[in-house]
Amino acid sequence: MVNVAVLGCGTVGSGVADVFRMNSSLIAKQAGREIRVKYILDIRDLSGTPYEELQIRDFALIESDPEISVVVESIGGAGIAYEFTKRALAAGKSVVTSNKELVATHGDELLRLARENNVSYLFEASVGGGIPLIHPISRCLTANDLTEVCGILNGTTNYILTKMIREGISFKLALKQACDNGYAELDPTDDIEGKDACRKICILASLLSGRHIRPEQSFVQGITGVSLSDVKFAESANYKIKLLGRALRTDEGRWAVWVSPHLVPASNPLSCVEDVFNAILVSGNAVDDVMFYGRGAGKMATASAVVSDVIDIVASAPRVLNDFWDGDGSDITCDSAAIPSKWYIRTNDQSLAAALSGQTVLRNTSAKASEAAFITKKAYNRQALDTLIGRTVPLSLMRVL
Ligand code: HSE
Repeated sequence: MVNVAVLGCGTVGSGVADVFRMNSSLIAKQAGREIRVKYILDIRDLSGTPYEELQIRDFALIESDPEISVVVESIGGAGIAYEFTKRALAAGKSVVTSNKELVATHGDELLRLARENNVSYLFEASVGGGIPLIHPISRCLTANDLTEVCGILNGTTNYILTKMIREGISFKLALKQACDNGYAELDPTDDIEGKDACRKICILASLLSGRHIRPEQSFVQGITGVSLSDVKFAESANYKIKLLGRALRTDEGRWAVWVSPHLVPASNPLSCVEDVFNAILVSGNAVDDVMFYGRGAGKMATASAVVSDVIDIVASAPRVLNDFWDGDGSDITCDSAAIPSKWYIRTNDQSLAAALSGQTVLRNTSAKASEAAFITKKAYNRQALDTLIGRTVPLSLMRVL
């Protein structure tokens, strides 16, 4: 029998407890041993829930209980979750988490601590919700030199963009629905301003590069500046607007990492990814492109990935799983502004429109007569683009994939 403690009984934590109940015999078969949730730590009162008997409020009980070998951290954030994770690892307990903020901020330190204590630190659910991604990249694609990853990494913003495009509902209403469905972060500005996707692309970039790449070393732009007018202009030329996280290694061996809304052509499979679904394209020099697709957020999808990590730890024991990356990666990153791409530009400035008249012109019959939109014919890095558009600030500026 393996005993597990769950920290936090919110959306993810209660989903984890639900999956353990729902699939207990199947899980025992997969792990080779029975797995039991012994404690659920939460400061809120769990009376009246199926888990009231398991509730504790003092982390020290978990820390000092030799029966607990795996701790599931589903508190979120990089505050108390960071403290409890360090204490659990130091006490010789493996930790599983869906906490992308913690992994993106302190992953190198926590992985080192796990190695020092001969325990596992796993975070499959931190990127792509229920999509198997970290495990396949770190175990099944190891024969490749992995040079690029590009994906839709935030379910909430993809849900919002899909609802705005398909049903024409307002940004505010779509965001409310995403919150009601349990997709959004506690502070949904982390979703819409791109911070959540940034943490996830940093985790993937760290995985590919083998060094810890942090959110401060990347560029982030969310979806708050995307208007229905942009959506219509993009559609007229067969593009969808998607918030993409991208990490790619330059010829000089440096990693550019960024999150921003992109125009994605209909020919690219990412353009068809809708609602809360995420999709991630990984490029390797032997396998070429591999795409991972599935539910990127939500209680049971995320819990599925967390519980699979617990099973993995139990089934792999005594081997530990903590070799994802090592050391700081600040010396191997570069500014994403140096990466060239075609650009979408919307403006109501007549002189800028005249300067761009040689570029591809987009049509939108419902746009204001004063507005025009263009896609550059050539790829430009940010400096060359600034030379092209001069000092006028466009209404909208997005990369084209
Ligand atoms: N708020 C996140 C999202 C949850 O919408 O993708 C899953 O990480």
